[in-house]
Amino acid sequence: MGDNLKMPNRSDALRVGVAGAGAFGRNHARVYRDLQADPAQNIQFIGVADLDYARAQSVAQEFGTQAFHSLDEMVAAGVQAASVAVPTVTHLEVAGKLMQSGVDVLIEKPLATSIAEADELIELSLRYGRIAQAGHLERFNPAVRATVSLLTQPMFFEVHRLSVFTPRSLDVDVILDLMIHDLDVVLAFAKSPVKEIRAVGLPILSKKIDIANVRLEFESGCVANFTASRVSTERIRKLRFFQPHQYISLDYSRQDVLVLTVDDLNPEPAEVDPFNPASTAASAFSGITPFKPKVEPQEPLRTELSSFLCAVRERSTPEVTLADGRRALSLAVQIVDAIAEHSRSAHLVELTRAES
Ligand SMILES: NC(=O)c1ccc[n+]([C@@H]2O[C@H](COP(=O)([O-])OP(=O)(O)OC[C@H]3O[C@@H](n4cnc5c(N)ncnc54)[C@H](O)[C@@H]3O)[C@@H](O)[C@H]2O)c1
Repeated sequence: MGDNLKMPNRSDALRVGVAGAGAFGRNHARVYRDLQADPAQNIQFIGVADLDYARAQSVAQEFGTQAFHSLDEMVAAGVQAASVAVPTVTHLEVAGKLMQSGVDVLIEKPLATSIAEADELIELSLRYGRIAQAGHLERFNPAVRATVSLLTQPMFFEVHRLSVFTPRSLDVDVILDLMIHDLDVVLAFAKSPVKEIRAVGLPILSKKIDIANVRLEFESGCVANFTASRVSTERIRKLRFFQPHQYISLDYSRQDVLVLTVDDLNPEPAEVDPFNPASTAASAFSGITPFKPKVEPQEPLRTELSSFLCAVRERSTPEVTLADGRRALSLAVQIVDAIAEHSRSAHLVELTRAES
């Protein structure tokens, strides 16, 4: 057994843990530590397990909990619910083992690296009667939550998720690493099956696709353009869309939303001074009303883990199910296939191979 730190011992407290004490598992550990301090949550953060024991020890020490050498140790310590924050290629192995041991799981995004693995995770959750949530964090972003009630008939999305390069999550490409966040959100917003996928992507600094541009057309006629990059010089996380007489701009990082509504369809164009930046399209027409919905800043991970713990306690369907995770993964896999097809038709195959 790992370090024996003093833990609160409330018999009815839900015993939670984290599998994987890497870059993101550390965040889960920090949030569980904070939630443990809230009596309303009534949880006991029993520890973190990592194959790299030194890493588990370091995170455990930082957040006042125990380090475990293995999942078996964490299970033996009585964990009831756990975050799975190991590399995606091991989600099935780790989450599967926990579910078989009677533990409810929150599995980080992307759910798995293949549809077969996602199906197996879903099957295991049903077979062992486990609450299992997919870790699509952006659904818990307060700006996304504030936008849900504004949706009428979104017809055109423009999405950018750009990051500077870090040698992390390189076990998957940028579609599964970054774009999948937006695929999940747009699928939830568009509420229509995807009809057509056009995509281009390239490996730049890693051996997998690092930058991609995707155009989706939905059966409803809605179109969505996505750009995702993990080799950018700046960090941008924005989703913008148009619906009849309305433009909505959402900034995931700043957690804010701007709504421009055209309430006068025959406005008198005002005088526009091209040298005056204040003379924007919005101010040029008297009939456009800007509105900023109130968004209470919140850490999405805290809201996500609270929601998971609530589903565990109530034995209710999680807000983001494994089926949702599978749906986003399935689209991501089709996009990767479309990129491969485009590379072949653009004679990029040799280039891609040469760089990998
Ligand atoms: N939701 C988000 O915004 C977000 C952001 C970053 C990462 N993630 C996801 O979180 C997961 C982890 O990513 P990361 O960047 O923290 O990875 P990481 O490589 O930094 O950490 C993974 C840790 O898991 C440990 N590990 C590997 N196999 C294990 C096993 N069988 N049992 C116990 N521990 C094991 C490794 O030793 C390592 O410490 C990935 O699925 C990633 O996609 C999600």
